[in-house]
Amino acid sequence: ALITLRQLLDHAAEYGYGVPAFNINNMEQGIAIMKAAAKCDAPVIMQASRGARSYAGDIMLRHMIQALSEMYPDIPLCMHQDHGNNEATCLTAIRHGFTSVMMDGSLKEDMKTPADWDYNVAITKRVADMAHWVGASVEGELGVLGNLETGEAAEEDGSGAVGKLSHDQLLTDPDEALDFVKLTKVDALAIACGTSHGAYKFSRKPTGDILAISQIEKIHAKIPNVHLVMHGSSSVPQYLQDLINESGGEMPQTYGVPVEEIERGIKSGVRKVNIDTDNRMALTAQFRKVAQDKPTEFDPRKFMIPAMEEMEKLCLDRFQRFGTAGNA
Ligand code: G3H
Ligand code: 13P
Ligand code: ZN
Repeated sequence: ALITLRQLLDHAAEYGYGVPAFNINNMEQGIAIMKAAAKCDAPVIMQASRGARSYAGDIMLRHMIQALSEMYPDIPLCMHQDHGNNEATCLTAIRHGFTSVMMDGSLKEDMKTPADWDYNVAITKRVADMAHWVGASVEGELGVLGNLETGEAAEEDGSGAVGKLSHDQLLTDPDEALDFVKLTKVDALAIACGTSHGAYKFSRKPTGDILAISQIEKIHAKIPNVHLVMHGSSSVPQYLQDLINESGGEMPQTYGVPVEEIERGIKSGVRKVNIDTDNRMALTAQFRKVAQDKPTEFDPRKFMIPAMEEMEKLCLDRFQRFGTAGNA
């Protein structure tokens, strides 16, 4: 059944677990996630970016969500807008059956320019008011995602850096987080702690100076009842980098967020864990492998089936390690 983010995360907080929020833009990703969830009895958050909505189309996504919840009637499913950039994006998502939206006012509408406090509070509050009138949930963001190694703020889609910021802007301030939630009444708050979108997060296995889980602990101490959201939470597993590169890929060596660091975050109030890159890599690794091993193959299903299996395995692992399993 479809449920809101608030319902799901309230349960997660009560029982002390985290929920991966997997990005989707096609049927195969949707099926892989639901299969993994059904295997371990986990509730699901699926999210679509603006890019995903224009790729698949709102009508297709609306019916896909309906179809997936009909196919898996026992799995609670929250459908969430990832990184909404204005009121229109958020309200049209709700109109198309999304039960939850992110209003990302940490950046201006172009999703490149860091926004100031007043802009963020005003637009997030407007969206939260409107969403709550019709029973949808809202995630806001305070702080800008970016790299503490280089001081670069990161583009929302992981496509590159957008400019230098101070250390302060790249780490959410606990006192400001308290005020922000009071003023906007968001149901969940995305925070910045040194992660960024995409595969190229860190140039080495991250330590506390570049991945500030301790900042999450400070925020949680200040606002213990607020559901925290960690963006840029792909772990960019070495086995997938290797499989891609053994099959003709040329991904430079990179490091993501180790799963044990996310587990530490979950102990400190992180309830929603955004993951897109890992699943993209799982699918791509198998596409490449099939293309390399069977150069005569041209039936897309022969590519899709192992790709979906690789993605399902990754989703299942995250449901288990985040404690989501068994909570559907
Ligand atoms: O926010 C980042 C997600 O990975 C979505 O990326 O905008 O390319 O769909 P996208
Ligand atoms: P990754 O690029 O680390 O998977 O992050 C996804 C994300 O935060 C989507 O909002
Ligand atoms: Zn994100």
